[in-house]
Amino acid sequence: MERIMVIGAAGQIGSELTLALRKLHGAENVFATDLKEAPPEVVGNGPFQVLDVMDDKRLIHFVIRHKITQIYHLAAVLSGNAEKLPIQAWEINMQSLLNILDLAREVEDIKKVFWPSSIAVFGGTTPHKNTPQLTVTEPSTVYGISKLAGERWCRYFYSRYGVDVRSIRYPGLISYKTEAGGGTTDYAVEIFYEAVRNGKYECFLKEDTALPMMFMEDAINATIQLMEAPAEKITIRSAYNMGGLSFTPAQLAEKIKKHEPDFKITYKPDFRQPIAESWPQSIDDSIAKKDWGLTVNYDLSKMTAAMLQGVRDKFSMNM
Ligand code: NAD
Ligand code: SER
Repeated sequence: MERIMVIGAAGQIGSELTLALRKLHGAENVFATDLKEAPPEVVGNGPFQVLDVMDDKRLIHFVIRHKITQIYHLAAVLSGNAEKLPIQAWEINMQSLLNILDLAREVEDIKKVFWPSSIAVFGGTTPHKNTPQLTVTEPSTVYGISKLAGERWCRYFYSRYGVDVRSIRYPGLISYKTEAGGGTTDYAVEIFYEAVRNGKYECFLKEDTALPMMFMEDAINATIQLMEAPAEKITIRSAYNMGGLSFTPAQLAEKIKKHEPDFKITYKPDFRQPIAESWPQSIDDSIAKKDWGLTVNYDLSKMTAAMLQGVRDKFSMNM
């Protein structure tokens, strides 16, 4: 029986991943942790504890006391926020990963670790269309630098110490349950809230900025699929490319207008525009498909319909 720790369980991914893991492994076996209180669905349906991943003494105590066998380490400072406090972001993103990798090396019970990388490992010199797994990686953001270094540390701990750490370069993830955490792809979440609430949205990226994206349900399924795959199927021990969808703000707005004909979008690019321009527009994820069977069920139309419905339901529940 697995005993799983989720770090960053109050965040956009962690809150949904915790619930999916609890369905699979039993609520009592999935221990959610975060620096801040998690949403009621997470706190109310299984164990939750406030814990700072930077506190390595409390971390090791927690892992041993609960006999943890798998760790999903999701705590990080995302691209937009990291540019505001680069040194602190580097410290949190890097040191927290090193704490976890070292713990997995030392504690025999820990059999697997998941840590997400990002399309942010790529930079302006990377081929932007159908970006290959192995290519130029010259990130321009502190977030991207920390993800690239993190990938190399994962590879190192796997080959030097045999730590079974697995990773995906997530694209922008789109969900309605928990708000996005300060990234460059957040416009593709905010737009749905503003469309339902106000019928208009001012986008912080230019209308023709294409980025790789994915609906959260597909991302959660992929993450669990990767973690359940037999170790011999995992040929990439840095992080797998994962693409999903590719669209621009203008294309997304057009899809929203099919449901909300009066919806209006305006554009006021800010400091996140050059970040987005340095990232790929679409991703070649054929190795993830071949190695562990990555599948994507939501295209742009299906994702748009699901998001609008989800946001409307959320607002009507809160009224
Ligand atoms: P988020 O900001 O929504 O959640 C991160 C959570 O980590 C927050 O709840 C925060 O309180 C927590 N946290 C921060 N510092 C902590 C600490 N010291 N100790 C414990 N918890 C701490 O981010 P997210 O979107 O859920 O992203 C999760 C992971 O996935 C991150 O590593 C991120 O880089 C990666 N990722 C996300 C996306 C995306 O589009 N959401 C894309 C690529 C990669
Ligand atoms: N969605 C993330 C960000 O924009 C990509 O890693 O920071």
